[in-house]
Amino acid sequence: MTYVVTDGCINCKYQDCIEVCPVDCFYEGENMIVINTEECIDCAVCEPECPVDAIIPDTDPAAAKWIPINQKYAEKWPNIAEKGTPPSDADEWAEKEGKFELLSEKPADS
Ligand code: SF4
Ligand code: F3S
Repeated sequence: MTYVVTDGCINCKYQDCIEVCPVDCFYEGENMIVINTEECIDCAVCEPECPVDAIIPDTDPAAAKWIPINQKYAEKWPNIAEKGTPPSDADEWAEKEGKFELLSEKPADS
């Protein structure tokens, strides 16, 4: 059981989810955060923190395609345990649909 981050996070990356995670299992890409599905303990505390409802449980049918994506990038990107600064245009992306194709494979700048 795990939670996953979905495309609502892309280009928003508000990071309100980061510091509530008791096991620090978030990983940071250039324009999205993902969860390490093998480290997540399914505690659910991050889900209500996201302003764009990008975090969902794996019991949600919409999570199926996101589980391998989260795990793939969690193994490539750096861990993030402290909230950083969201993108300056995050609010402009909050309501946009169909952001999946914008997902950057690059890790966050460190
Ligand atoms: Fe972390 Fe809990 Fe969210 Fe999993 S469900 S990512 S353990 S806060
Ligand atoms: Fe992304 Fe929401 Fe966290 S926008 S960084 S999943 S608070």
